[in-house]
Amino acid sequence: MLTLTVENHFEDWRAKARTLLLAGVSPNEVIWEEPGQSGLFPTEYPLPPPSKSQTPIVTREFLSLAETISYHNSHQKWVLLYRTLWRLTLGGETHLLKRTTDPDILSLLRMRKEIARDIHKMHAFVRFKKTGDDMQSERENFMAWFEPDHRIMPLTAQFFQKRFTGMDWSIFTPTGSASWDGKTLRLGPGVDKVEVPKEELDELWRGYYKSIFNPARLKVKAMQAEMPKKYWHNLPESNLIESLISESRHRVQEMHKETLRSATSGGKNPYLKHLRNLTSHDENIVLNPDEHIRQPLSRIRELATCCQACPLHQKATGTVLGEGPADAEIMIVGEQPGDQEDLLGRPFVGPAGKLLDHFLSKTGIDRKECYVTNAVKHFKFIPRGNQRFHQSPNLYEISRCKPWLVGELQEVKPRIIILLGSTAARSLIGTHFKITQQRGIITGTGLAAKVIATVHPSYLLRIKDSQQQQHEKTLFLKDLQLVR
Ligand code: URA
Repeated sequence: MLTLTVENHFEDWRAKARTLLLAGVSPNEVIWEEPGQSGLFPTEYPLPPPSKSQTPIVTREFLSLAETISYHNSHQKWVLLYRTLWRLTLGGETHLLKRTTDPDILSLLRMRKEIARDIHKMHAFVRFKKTGDDMQSERENFMAWFEPDHRIMPLTAQFFQKRFTGMDWSIFTPTGSASWDGKTLRLGPGVDKVEVPKEELDELWRGYYKSIFNPARLKVKAMQAEMPKKYWHNLPESNLIESLISESRHRVQEMHKETLRSATSGGKNPYLKHLRNLTSHDENIVLNPDEHIRQPLSRIRELATCCQACPLHQKATGTVLGEGPADAEIMIVGEQPGDQEDLLGRPFVGPAGKLLDHFLSKTGIDRKECYVTNAVKHFKFIPRGNQRFHQSPNLYEISRCKPWLVGELQEVKPRIIILLGSTAARSLIGTHFKITQQRGIITGTGLAAKVIATVHPSYLLRIKDSQQQQHEKTLFLKDLQLVR
């Protein structure tokens, strides 16, 4: 039996593994240890001489996987990596990495996933505290302490360099540290817990967190999965979380009540009367599709947060209302928020939004000057595995959402409306509208001086045939050019 000590980094393991492979040493004949692991009597034997003249070829895929796994905390990783390497090369199992049911491969993939998750958490939960100013360079100094599950400091340092490039900072973890001075990114050893100063930055974080915390969007389970309790003690906002959660039910109820109070006050608006009649209990807001909400845009936005007019609110993260100047000349109406829009709470920020932005700028339209919204304000999807697949809203859902859209329209009063796809056209023009046959300028709608109906950018993204896609894109551009 051969005992090898790996200085806990990839290059050291790689050099030793290569020598073992050249000597034809089977994984069962090696014990891999890390410094200090073997206790009183560390035993390292000389590496055996090569018995083969050429190192077996190892794929880039394996090397990249192995390098990532080398940052895992488990001592088992070196054993596992060498056994996989041996099976891939001398063992002749060249397609082993594809066998995702193999116990070794399963373990490696699990480890890779744990590292990816740890990186994600570190990106999200490192909190810098100000430690002073550098008088000479006029740069501020910051410091952070974080306890990742794995040795991932080297894998995350560049992220922080890019994100916080304008300040000098150091991040300390038990297994590695990093610092940035505006010019050089340095990696260093881990440290025992450092005292990170308490600073006014904590207050800023707390203020920020409170302002972005929306009780109507609260999903406690999802939030706790994202922000496990073990990170809370280093987060300045953590002492707010429990009280915000316990307050949130009450706050949502208050929002609903307030909605009803303001909606029913005076009872002049027929839609709102209707609402009062149909409401069976305080938490339901029932919308009448023939009316709109006569409120300023900011109020519409608040009220829509509570909308439960159709079942779509049950699965979506939250209501996604339109955005853009309240006096925009152009209003763009899409179908409904997609996956990314649902998570970010903003319309047209995913792939369809990117394509729309591209064509708008080709047409010379500045998206920032448009009011961009959707006919339906909640994401409709079916979950499959980890993914959520878009589903088109039905006529009932479109009509339940219409008061919000008409409310936005009445407030913005655009000169031009661009309807993207049949859902938008069905909502505002009529249920029998056929985009393919009636696209272009639509007259006599009474909605705005000009209404232009065209296809939805997601339709363009779905076309597989490149010639047809090109053709459709040209038509889309022509429709948008009508705006001029
Ligand atoms: N598709 C839409 O219709 N709207 C969005 O906001 C995103 C994708």
